[in-house]
Amino acid sequence: MQIAGNCDHTNGGVNRLFPLFLSVLTVFVVLTLAAVNDCRADNCLANGCHAEVKMKQFVHAPVDGDDCLSCHQQVNPQHPSSAGKDFAGAAEGSDLCFQCHDQEGFNGRQKHGPSASGACTACHDPHGSDQKGLLKMPLKQLCLDCHQDFAASMEEAAHLHTAIRKLDCGACHMPHSSDQPSLLKGDSINLCFGCHENIKNKYDTSLNKHKALYVRQRCGNCHFAHFSQYPALLVKEGADLCFTCHGQDEPDRTDAPFNIRQEIEGKEVVHGPVAEGECGACHEVHGSNFAMLLTGPFPRTFYAPYQPDEYDFCFQCHDKELLTSQPVKNQTGFRNGTDNLHYRHVARKQKGRTCLACHSVHASNGQKLINPEGIPFGKWKIPIRFAATDTGGGCVPGCHRSLDYDRQTSVDYSKPGAAKQKETKESPAAQKDTKPPAAEKDTLETEPLDTERITR
Ligand code: HEC
Ligand code: HEC
Ligand code: HEC
Ligand code: HEC
Ligand code: HEC
Ligand code: HEC
Ligand code: HEC
Ligand code: HEC
Ligand code: HEC
Ligand code: HEC
Ligand code: HEC
Repeated sequence: MQIAGNCDHTNGGVNRLFPLFLSVLTVFVVLTLAAVNDCRADNCLANGCHAEVKMKQFVHAPVDGDDCLSCHQQVNPQHPSSAGKDFAGAAEGSDLCFQCHDQEGFNGRQKHGPSASGACTACHDPHGSDQKGLLKMPLKQLCLDCHQDFAASMEEAAHLHTAIRKLDCGACHMPHSSDQPSLLKGDSINLCFGCHENIKNKYDTSLNKHKALYVRQRCGNCHFAHFSQYPALLVKEGADLCFTCHGQDEPDRTDAPFNIRQEIEGKEVVHGPVAEGECGACHEVHGSNFAMLLTGPFPRTFYAPYQPDEYDFCFQCHDKELLTSQPVKNQTGFRNGTDNLHYRHVARKQKGRTCLACHSVHASNGQKLINPEGIPFGKWKIPIRFAATDTGGGCVPGCHRSLDYDRQTSVDYSKPGAAKQKETKESPAAQKDTKPPAAEKDTLETEPLDTERITR
């Protein structure tokens, strides 16, 4: 039923009132014809009436189809009226929308406040919008408009996740509901893996896994999802991050993470990168193919048969020649004249001493990171009492008798008591800078150091 000169959207209900209605209408039409601008009921949009509801880039399908009545019910037969409120919603809140829309997607275990309470129009314009999804404003702005505390912290943060900067909140969150906590699109770790394939590969394929990725909040143990005052979205800076788990003894737990803080704090000498809090310079925190999550191969026994690349882990930062140059000039302080004592100890076909036989890697109370407490040798720890001098040093290790070395005046080990002996600085050996003799040479095994018995 249609009535000329009015925007009547009603269907059946008004029929009974029709005669009365018609007379009122006649008066109305006469009085307001000029002002009403001929708003015809077969089209609420005709002649400029409500044309604005469609003037958007994206128009809601029922609006596009001029199906105004599916959402608006005429309650005042006279429209337009000076009273206003001529129309009521066809249903309340979300019921209006669920007349046509499936409720699937709205009933996840966790529901978003405004959506659950039926405030669909807090985010959507029911008629149309220049944003996709009929959103009232760009998505990020929409979220931040309500989540103002969040917006304020985000504003202050030094580092913002690129996923937020370049993408959107919707990259990780569902707008209406989710079976995951925090309205997430996936369970936390797979959510991250969706965009971080390199980390997923490490996680899946590394031979040695870091338990930190398998407990509690997983990635969230170390990273914020949105922003952070520290680079890489870390929750804490440098070593403090690691000390959240590796910073206390937990005697009740058999699987407690090793307390590294106690190995470092208060020590006289702290290894350069450790002092800088750069634990990640040596450890691959997401998983590694090497023992102890190291970034390269590194023998952790007392002895290891020498192989040239075996210690490349240390030589990511140190000059390899401190080990390989023999004779040596100044690439290492651990030399007797030009005799490279690193080479002597380490570069042996059989009982090569590893770096750990003498050095601690994190920190030590001994000079040059020499480990005075000694490192385990079977059930015994081999103590090393090392003292540096201006031109050399001396060791009283558990390995051999007390021996000194001197960079300027080389010590003659063939003499009992290891008296110092002058060596000409221009010795041919020092000048030649030759490549080291092959470590496999048998002569090495008979050189002085090796003839010393292990005193055990
Ligand atoms: C999908 C449901 C739906 C359809 C279809 C719909 N509307 Fe609406 N309309 C609403 C809702 C909901 C409101 C209240 C808006 C609010 O509260 O923000 C509204 C409000 C209005 C208003 C009040 C002013 C305003 O813009 O808020 C007018 C006028 C209006 N609609 C006209 C129309 C016309 C004309 C059509 C058909 C071309 C139409 N509507 C189709 C849901 C709809
Ligand atoms: C009369 C039926 C009807 C009602 C009532 C209705 N819608 Fe729709 N809506 C549709 C149709 C049809 C589509 C198009 C569906 C499609 O493209 O798959 C649609 C699409 C949408 C879209 C997607 C638009 C896009 O561009 O992706 C949103 C958002 C939406 N409606 C929100 C609402 C909200 C909010 C309400 C309640 C205020 C509501 N709808 C009420 C019929 C309706
Ligand atoms: C907090 C804001 C917010 C609220 C509240 C909200 N929505 Fe949405 N809705 C969104 C966003 C964001 C999208 C995705 C838009 C896009 O990117 O296309 C969306 C998409 C939709 C779509 C498109 C299909 C889909 O599911 O992706 C429909 C339909 C829809 N919403 C209906 C509703 C209804 C019905 C309600 C009320 C029960 C509601 N929305 C409440 C933000 C909201
Ligand atoms: C109309 C206001 C409003 C808008 C717009 C809005 N939210 Fe919310 N949001 C809320 C309210 C209210 C809560 C419930 C807060 C509470 O319980 O503390 C909530 C809760 C949340 C939660 C769950 C918090 C928790 O502790 O589990 C997340 C996640 C969230 N919103 C994300 C978003 C995202 C993403 C958007 C943009 C798509 C958005 N919100 C848009 C009002 C809004
Ligand atoms: C990279 C994925 C990702 C993006 C993008 C993202 N979030 Fe989150 N969000 C999460 C994760 C994971 C959690 C749960 C862990 C947590 O609380 O940090 C969360 C939790 C939340 C919470 C509830 C906890 C809290 O911090 O109050 C709110 C609110 C929230 N996000 C809002 C937003 C808003 C707003 C945006 C867009 C500006 C956004 N998120 C973008 C992943 C994301
Ligand atoms: C929607 C895609 C997406 C998701 C999901 C996502 N990220 Fe990202 N993230 C990016 C992009 C893009 C970058 C920047 C490029 C890069 O470093 O790969 C980035 C960078 C990062 C960075 C380096 C930040 C910096 O300042 O360099 C970290 C850390 C990070 N993401 C952690 C996470 C964590 C943890 C999760 C899971 C909660 C996650 N991401 C989920 C897209 C995503
Ligand atoms: C034990 C702490 C810890 C955990 C758990 C952790 N990360 Fe990291 N992540 C770090 C540190 C530290 C860095 C910075 C490394 C650096 O300085 O290069 C980093 C860097 C990143 C980066 C940026 C650099 C890169 O390698 O691409 C991404 C992306 C990243 N993490 C994602 C993840 C994801 C995804 C998870 C969960 C699967 C996760 N992280 C779990 C500590 C952690
Ligand atoms: C959320 C707690 C947590 C955080 C944070 C954490 N770890 Fe761990 N880490 C563990 C656990 C648990 C183990 C396994 C301990 C065990 O099995 O004895 C472990 C083991 C290790 C191991 C030994 C791996 C092996 O193969 O035995 C190294 C190395 C390590 N972590 C380094 C780090 C570094 C570096 C950081 C900081 C970037 C860090 N961890 C932060 C929990 C954590
Ligand atoms: C210069 C390289 C380097 C740096 C920097 C470094 N580590 Fe290590 N870390 C190692 C090496 C090598 C081992 C193996 C030593 C061993 O087996 O005795 C190791 C072992 C570990 C272990 C396993 C200990 C055990 O016995 O289970 C943990 C945990 C650890 N480091 C944490 C850290 C933390 C936390 C930091 C930062 C404060 C850090 N590391 C910095 C080289 C380093
Ligand atoms: C990530 C880089 C890095 C790695 C890997 C590294 N170091 Fe260092 N190391 C340093 C820095 C930086 C210093 C301080 C340099 C300086 O003071 O001249 C240092 C100093 C030293 C010192 C001298 C300490 C002192 O008091 O003078 C010794 C000994 C040492 N490292 C042994 C090792 C051993 C053994 C390894 C292999 C397990 C190793 N380093 C791996 C960076 C590294
Ligand atoms: C037999 C004990 C011993 C072994 C084994 C040993 N070092 Fe040393 N290292 C020393 C002594 C002693 C010094 C101190 C030299 C000086 O300054 O007087 C030293 C010094 C260093 C320095 C400081 C720079 C220099 O050369 O003077 C680095 C770096 C170093 N060692 C790395 C290593 C690496 C890497 C390994 C394993 C490949 C290793 N050390 C094996 C005893 C040892």
